[in-house]
Amino acid sequence: MPSRSARVRAVAAGLALVATLAGCPDRSARPVADPAGPSVGPGAGTAAASFAPGAAGVGDPYFPSYGNGGYDVANYRLAVRYDPDSKRLSGTATITATATAALSRFNLDLVGLTVESATVDGAPATTARDGAELTVTPAAGLARGARFTARIRYSGIPRPVHSPQLGDNGFLSTADGAIALGEPESASTWFPVNDHPQDKATYDIEVTVPADLVALSNGVPGGTVAAGAGWTTWRWSERSPMASYLCTLVIGRYRIERSEHGGKPMVLAVPSNLPSNGPAARSLAATGTIVDYLTSQFGPYPFDSYGGIVVRDKRIRYALETQSRPVYGEVFFDRGVNEGVIAHELAHQWFGDSVSLSRWSDMWLNEGFATYAEWLWAEHTGERRVQESFDTQYARTLWSKPALDPGRADLFGMGVYQRGALVVHALRMTVGDEKFFAILRAWTTERRDGNGTTADFQALAERISGRQLDRFFADWLTGTAAPPIPG
Ligand code: ARG
Ligand code: ZN
Repeated sequence: MPSRSARVRAVAAGLALVATLAGCPDRSARPVADPAGPSVGPGAGTAAASFAPGAAGVGDPYFPSYGNGGYDVANYRLAVRYDPDSKRLSGTATITATATAALSRFNLDLVGLTVESATVDGAPATTARDGAELTVTPAAGLARGARFTARIRYSGIPRPVHSPQLGDNGFLSTADGAIALGEPESASTWFPVNDHPQDKATYDIEVTVPADLVALSNGVPGGTVAAGAGWTTWRWSERSPMASYLCTLVIGRYRIERSEHGGKPMVLAVPSNLPSNGPAARSLAATGTIVDYLTSQFGPYPFDSYGGIVVRDKRIRYALETQSRPVYGEVFFDRGVNEGVIAHELAHQWFGDSVSLSRWSDMWLNEGFATYAEWLWAEHTGERRVQESFDTQYARTLWSKPALDPGRADLFGMGVYQRGALVVHALRMTVGDEKFFAILRAWTTERRDGNGTTADFQALAERISGRQLDRFFADWLTGTAAPPIPG
């Protein structure tokens, strides 16, 4: 095991980078939609006169324009082709969804790129663009409850979204290919999407790249097929509902190691120009062992496949819990083997991926538990007791920074990560080990493939512990003074 401070420094470096960039608002500040568009759909004058446009955002308090209203996506079928020489991507997104309102039109999120054509249920649809909003108007209104299929053909040179607070997220072209990665957004930079964790969907992804490169994504590998001279198509499918920011695409020169773990496919990948016995490869090789340990703490692993990808690009100074296959910036392994970051991203498979946020202000539900998993893993390996991690962190916490609702600028701050982990351990100290682990398992079981809020978590903790925890959560999540240590 490496020193734990290596991980802390690497993360701090990443956060510092994010924190020191200051400037104007990013894409998330783009205007939210106009309710003033046509309120009547193509069926005006008939019984369909109540068809109305879907909202251009789900109304997340931090990112009001993210996602869209009026429908619920079940599946994205993406077929994209990327040419690293021209940096051009062309794609077809086939989106199967259900209308949750009678829709005259609906929006998708798409940053840059050119829409070439669109159909809804096979009939041509008209499209319009306004910033990161793509509006699709079908030939006929969509009845509430109707299942529909939108097919969008698009192309162009994808660009990341720059955010002074959150860094460069989304599609980056790299020395040997490309990496699509980012939180709280990234998907909209390479395909049209309902870009908010409230709308989770399954994915079938086909990526065509030059035959000397690999194309990695989420989920179960579906093999490769030749796609004309010098090109190969790679197939991946994520069968468990996935939040859009957890979808990744990594194209380049990688050494792929395929295996099985507990009867499910495992795919590990390291850049070809990193040594196979170096710290990155050795850290990644611990994936199976760490997953098994976390399973013993949190309950059954929620997905059909396992894996991990190390990426080598100086712009990626973070790791991300991309579903079933986290991506790790090489920076985490600069000072040697780092299993802490592997434990962190794998813990997110339960906390964040399988059970997802409903709004970004609840981020501690992701990061508090993932940081706590680092403490658990350090104790398991004999490096440091959880109680010691808690005591050290308690002493250095700035209580002015809340864990819950930290503000957009502090979405990845200490309040969310470190104080978030304190909340988790303080709950354990309050309710005892048996009830604590029962709460975690109930959370991951009852909300598997779904979403949850802080209020939902508190209600569950109260139900299982038989205690009223208003005061506990208020003190630990948002109180401005150090709460008394339970005991
Ligand atoms: N959720 C990631 C993690 O904790 C952090 C992502 C940071 N994102 C960023 N754009 N810097 O592992
Ligand atoms: Zn995390």
